[in-house]
Amino acid sequence: MIGDFLQNKYMTPITPSWLESTVFYELYPQSFLDTNSDGIGDIEGIIRKLDYIKSLGANAIWLNPCFASPFRDAGYDVEDFYAVAPRYGNNADLVRLFEAAHQRGMKVCLDLVAGHTSDQHPWFRSSCSAKRNKYSNWYVWTNSVWEEGDNMIRGYGDRDGNFLTNFFYHQPSLNYGYANPDPTKPWQLPVSHPDVQAVRAELFKIMRYWLDLGADGFRVDMAHSLVKADPDLKETMAFWADVRAMFDLDYPEAVLMSEWSDPAKAILAGFHVDFMLAFGKPPAYTSLLRKEKGRDLNPSAQDGHSYFDKEGKGNIREFLDTYLEHYLIIKDKGYITIPTGNHDCPRLAMGRTQEELMTVFAMIMTMPGIPFIYNGDEIGMRQVECLISKEGGYSRTGARTPMQWDRTLNAGFSDAASSNLYLPVDPDPGRPNVYDQESDPMSLLNVVRRLARLRKEHSALCADGNFIPLYAEPGKYPFIYQRSNASGDFVIAINPSAQPVQASFCGSHRIGSLHKIEGNKVRCQVVNADFQLEMPGISYAIFKCGAPFGSGLRNNN
Ligand code: NOJ
Ligand code: CA
Repeated sequence: MIGDFLQNKYMTPITPSWLESTVFYELYPQSFLDTNSDGIGDIEGIIRKLDYIKSLGANAIWLNPCFASPFRDAGYDVEDFYAVAPRYGNNADLVRLFEAAHQRGMKVCLDLVAGHTSDQHPWFRSSCSAKRNKYSNWYVWTNSVWEEGDNMIRGYGDRDGNFLTNFFYHQPSLNYGYANPDPTKPWQLPVSHPDVQAVRAELFKIMRYWLDLGADGFRVDMAHSLVKADPDLKETMAFWADVRAMFDLDYPEAVLMSEWSDPAKAILAGFHVDFMLAFGKPPAYTSLLRKEKGRDLNPSAQDGHSYFDKEGKGNIREFLDTYLEHYLIIKDKGYITIPTGNHDCPRLAMGRTQEELMTVFAMIMTMPGIPFIYNGDEIGMRQVECLISKEGGYSRTGARTPMQWDRTLNAGFSDAASSNLYLPVDPDPGRPNVYDQESDPMSLLNVVRRLARLRKEHSALCADGNFIPLYAEPGKYPFIYQRSNASGDFVIAINPSAQPVQASFCGSHRIGSLHKIEGNKVRCQVVNADFQLEMPGISYAIFKCGAPFGSGLRNNN
């Protein structure tokens, strides 16, 4: 069993103590806050907004790539893993960010692009040379330009060979070796090859460099993509298990999070957290939030209905069955995250009102695992349509526009001329902004804050609390579930459909009565041993459970 094999690599896995109660904020640095009027967000801008991020209830940041880069994939094309891109500041500024965050009890995690570099990286440029050198094998090259292969680029330079790409053509794959090298293709190096081992050692060095400077961990880009010809991903998992062993030994408070979308593999490989984005058929995340046309990253995805779709035609089981399959495997070992969105997905707010967004947040902030808020989703920033692609964003560009802070020039993002901004600000005159929402207790921003506070106040609602679905019928609404631990029990009911709905579920020895602590007007009554909920359209409620059966009053409101 893969699991057993990996378990032996790290005998006593360690989970960072802060993770259990954490809410993450994903921050796209170029669009957050520009403090030197060059039209691009910067590290100083992040430092100035740390208190805002903390006010959301988020105590950790995932910072999208901030390293030197030609920016043909927004920084996912790294040119120097050891240097901050000058447009954001310098290494000392990043260390200042770590320190300023730590002073506030917050964490900062970096984005580690482990599988590839930019074609401008000096390692790759050396590997392109026709003359053999230290870096010739750091990337995957065939022995002749006439040798065909999938995802190979032909005729790039003087070297007689084609190189393997990982994503865009200018992102050559670093050489982590082949799990099953084809004997007829001697350029497919085994994982034990010294040059492959040198690449691996370099990745360890990069991680140590930033962890030693104060980083609190990494979100690893395309973490599943490292070893080639690795059908069951056994060698890729073995590599990450080695990384996790280093974390457990030397950086036990640092976190490893994967863009893998297969928690059952990623967590067993050693990641503490994996993102729920593309796993399951149909993908669980899509079924929950993004099945309708345009809302899914994949434009060829079939149109359909997600559960959080006010037409009420979604099916919670499409999400839940896949989620549970993974959750039950990883439950005591790591966490699944259901992000509100990210820099690759169309904005959550696309086609949704602020009230509808509140129901999404009510679920995301009360599920097990770690909630991730993509910057701007907390105020319901819109997908900006019809933008010209920026830095390899293509259809993703509209989810990467500047943060809307207030009603001043450029929505408070930058003092630069509007024509000089990294991307234009959402032109909608009714665009949401932080300043306006601050003063409205019923704004999405303040609902997100309340939900985050509730989560933090009640450990049963945090990452480890048990998760028990109570009402999750195919094609029906609402979705009702219980979160529990020794300190208490909570019931959460979510109705994203525009129709009023009713549902009943059985009480248990842990649920004697329900007391609403957050949410809309939801009626609850007890009939025999059943709880019956009546929910208006687009509503949610969080209940604290009271005295169990037989112990007196079962007062419900
Ligand atoms: C996933 C990242 O989230 C995306 O933005 C990037 O383009 C690819 N990986 C390639 O690194
Ligand atoms: Ca700037």
